[in-house]
Amino acid sequence: MNTHTGFQGRSLLTWQDYTPEEIRYLLDLSKQVKTEAKQGAVQQRFLGKTLALLFEKRSTRTRCAFETAFGEEGGHPVFLSTQDIQLGVKESIEDTARVLGRMFSAIQFRGFKQATVEALATYSGVPVYNGLTDEFHPTQVLADIMTLEESFGNAKGRKLCFVGDGRNNVARSLMLICSKLGVHFTVITPPSLNPDLKLKETCKPFAAASGANIRVTADIAEVSGADAIYTDVWASMGEEAQKDARARLLAPYQVNQALMTRTGRKDSIFLHCLPAIKGEEVSADVIDGPQSRAWDEAENRKHTIKAIMLATLR
Ligand code: CP
Ligand code: NVA
Repeated sequence: MNTHTGFQGRSLLTWQDYTPEEIRYLLDLSKQVKTEAKQGAVQQRFLGKTLALLFEKRSTRTRCAFETAFGEEGGHPVFLSTQDIQLGVKESIEDTARVLGRMFSAIQFRGFKQATVEALATYSGVPVYNGLTDEFHPTQVLADIMTLEESFGNAKGRKLCFVGDGRNNVARSLMLICSKLGVHFTVITPPSLNPDLKLKETCKPFAAASGANIRVTADIAEVSGADAIYTDVWASMGEEAQKDARARLLAPYQVNQALMTRTGRKDSIFLHCLPAIKGEEVSADVIDGPQSRAWDEAENRKHTIKAIMLATLR
């Protein structure tokens, strides 16, 4: 196992405070972890450690990835939904964080506000992993880049197009990680769903340093030449009331075979963080077809999450 200093005790809240070299290290470690898993290696690298898994929103992949990655290496994960514990109800987030920090080696949080995961990191004194908030989904996009690299080698210089709700947590996290790694990233979305200007400003210096071309457009023709087309649900968790309006607005942005053809490339791949609503943001023939890497991407959630915990916890 290769080692890297500077990770110990750190949280992952967005990718903003990680350098391109550190993200590169985590990608390489993820690939190593995947190879070990395929070889059937049994290891105990989290023996004696505990992980609190806090969930305000539902999850299949993120919960299962954290729980199995940690548990199979000897760690003790504890799942805690808002039905089970006080989290800003009857007790402040700060106080809950202080108590969890006394009992757990690390905390994963999935929920609504980015401010909550940041408060957990500030007050717990242990590494905190953002397993999705309304604003960011950082662990997801490490798996996405890993999956892109499994098809094309180093992600730098590749073109990734996100088609759909351009202001959601996944699109925003992709913009950050792509700008750090030199991946050309285009958000294709109606103007009313553009990612916020503040995020674009944040990404500007990262993109200037890495050579990434970051674009936001409503023009579907910009998928031309893309290595990968990515989409996500049209209404994220917590936005259920907007489902019908979004479906009307985003219908022209469905990723279907006709859109995949517009890349002009036979080897372009399809990515989706899942869960998917087939027939809405993606047609069944694309997500279940030969260009789809969505299932590898789901598996890679586990390898990347294990790598993040190995780097920050040991
Ligand atoms: N992609 C993802 O985060 O899936 P879950 O919501 O099932 O965790
Ligand atoms: N944007 C989606 C991602 C789910 C993994 C949501 O927040 O619901």
